[in-house]
Amino acid sequence: MCGIFGLISKECLDIGEIALEGIKSLEYRGYDSCGIAFQNGGKLTVKKVSGKINDMQKKFNLETLSGHLAIAHTRWATHGAPTERNSHPHTDCTGDIALVHNGIIENFMELKDELKSKGHIFKSETDTEILPHLIEDFLKEGFNFKEAVIRTLKRCKGAYGIAVCYTKEPDVIIVARKESPIVIGIEEGKISYCASDIPAILPHTRSCYILEDDELAILQPGKAEFYNIQNSVNKIDKKPEYINWSVDDAKKNGYEHFMLKEIFEEPTAIRNTLKIEMKDFQIFAKHLLSADHIYITAAGTSYYAALAGKYMINKFLGKYIQGIECSEFQNNLIGALEKNSVILAVSQSGETADTIEAIRWAKKTQNDIKILSITNVVGSSLTRYSDHYIVTRAGPEIGVASTKTYVTQVIVLALIALEIAKLKKAISKEEIQKYYDALISTPDIIENFLDKNIHSVKNLVRNLEKNINYFFLARGISIATAKEGGLKLKEVACRFIEGYSAAHAKHGPISLVRKGFPIIFIAPPDETYERLVGNVMEFKARGGYIISVVSESDKKVTELSNVTIRIPQPSNKYFNLLTPITFIPALQLLAYYAALEHGLDPDKPLNLAKTVTVH
Ligand code: AGP
Repeated sequence: MCGIFGLISKECLDIGEIALEGIKSLEYRGYDSCGIAFQNGGKLTVKKVSGKINDMQKKFNLETLSGHLAIAHTRWATHGAPTERNSHPHTDCTGDIALVHNGIIENFMELKDELKSKGHIFKSETDTEILPHLIEDFLKEGFNFKEAVIRTLKRCKGAYGIAVCYTKEPDVIIVARKESPIVIGIEEGKISYCASDIPAILPHTRSCYILEDDELAILQPGKAEFYNIQNSVNKIDKKPEYINWSVDDAKKNGYEHFMLKEIFEEPTAIRNTLKIEMKDFQIFAKHLLSADHIYITAAGTSYYAALAGKYMINKFLGKYIQGIECSEFQNNLIGALEKNSVILAVSQSGETADTIEAIRWAKKTQNDIKILSITNVVGSSLTRYSDHYIVTRAGPEIGVASTKTYVTQVIVLALIALEIAKLKKAISKEEIQKYYDALISTPDIIENFLDKNIHSVKNLVRNLEKNINYFFLARGISIATAKEGGLKLKEVACRFIEGYSAAHAKHGPISLVRKGFPIIFIAPPDETYERLVGNVMEFKARGGYIISVVSESDKKVTELSNVTIRIPQPSNKYFNLLTPITFIPALQLLAYYAALEHGLDPDKPLNLAKTVTVH
């Protein structure tokens, strides 16, 4: 996820200051590097930095910049580290075209090879840079600016929100959208603005045009024309929408908190993560197949994603993977870390001090060790210390409690597991396809659940309001879900929880159960189900208030439960393996509404930081 802002004006304005304010208000979409292009007297100037917008402001003194056109960008790296070279805007060979982009061009490698063979010189490792070069090519062929942009976009697979300017048409910015948002604001007859999101436009106008997929707009000072990319001959008649949100509400896209917004972003985060190239999973799978010893390590939510993933990988790998919390990694393995080991490290931030320390210690102790990591941040410390890494595509997560990054971590681990199944021929091709089909439908299942269940989860929370202690119990792979769901309630709603094995809970924890004690059972219909039914009965017999999270067609656990949360998914082994992904939004929502019920801010849990950089 990145932020785009642009403006074009009749009069000469303090464009530097306006553009900086624009991308600053989009910083929540990404903040690892940034840049701006502006036009003055037919000359295009581009300034970029690796770092925050304030660094760029200081370095180039941009507040003093005046002119009539600027496009600016704040980046969340996906292809290429967050360096100055990889920052946007990107330009063509002539330096006449500048372009900012949010999204991913999936076929950029083929297009880049083709352009290189025609003599184009590339300066960055990004997918984006192919766009100005393709436009340059079409302009050379004699197409006008609009047609060159359209022909370029038609050659691209993937997602884009773009803004592009061209020195030979100095009174125009062209914007276009496919899957990545673009909004347009018009101060009639004076200034036109474009941005990735409404907050950047709101200080200037409340009248916004929202571009739809496959739409393109030509912005001129104080006016805009709209076209469909697939049929660009005739203009489209678009009506502006009046936005009455505050700037702060707008950043949360109308959601009350980032946590809720990020839960609702899970389907998109998963769909984007499913687009990661297969070869990355193959590299991980090959290392895991050839290793003698495998460890998986992480902290907090990432550790629970690791526990779910460990279970999925074990299933097909036929070798034991040892899960060790990163802070105890060294203590567990001192004197015992052997040659030909692989460590799989998981961290959304890629900066958690204990995770970094664990892998650095391991590398120092056994120099042939391979470090494979999964993170959400390109260029993070974890990527630098890893032999190979996969970057999830959750986009920036602002809420301190991890939500969308958790589901994308589990998706990546599931894809690694399936790659192992393929390479090892552990199951038939048909079965592998069924697992993939189930994986691809996880975003729809979550969307469907979120659409229909907000009210029931809110009601459940209201009934539980007085309780301070909870158990979250499960068996098999769902223990990870129980622990993670419980951690959410603990973090944001300040309830005491125990996330535990349902079987093991009768060896101690059950002594706490009295009438009305809330126990949340995670109960997918997998191989552990029948025994879990027995555990539910044990807790019910002692007066426990049973809340269960089950698949749509569940009967037995439902009959034993006081309240049931049903996840709209089929009951078969392919979907059962993926319940760490599809069942968790229910528990995240429960935690979110419990925080509100107790008057707490779910985005800023007490005593916690988003990234823990101390030991
Ligand atoms: C998650 O909700 C927590 N805020 C916390 O447990 C977090 O998962 C942990 O600190 C690890 O962070 P990382 O994924 O950035 O390494």
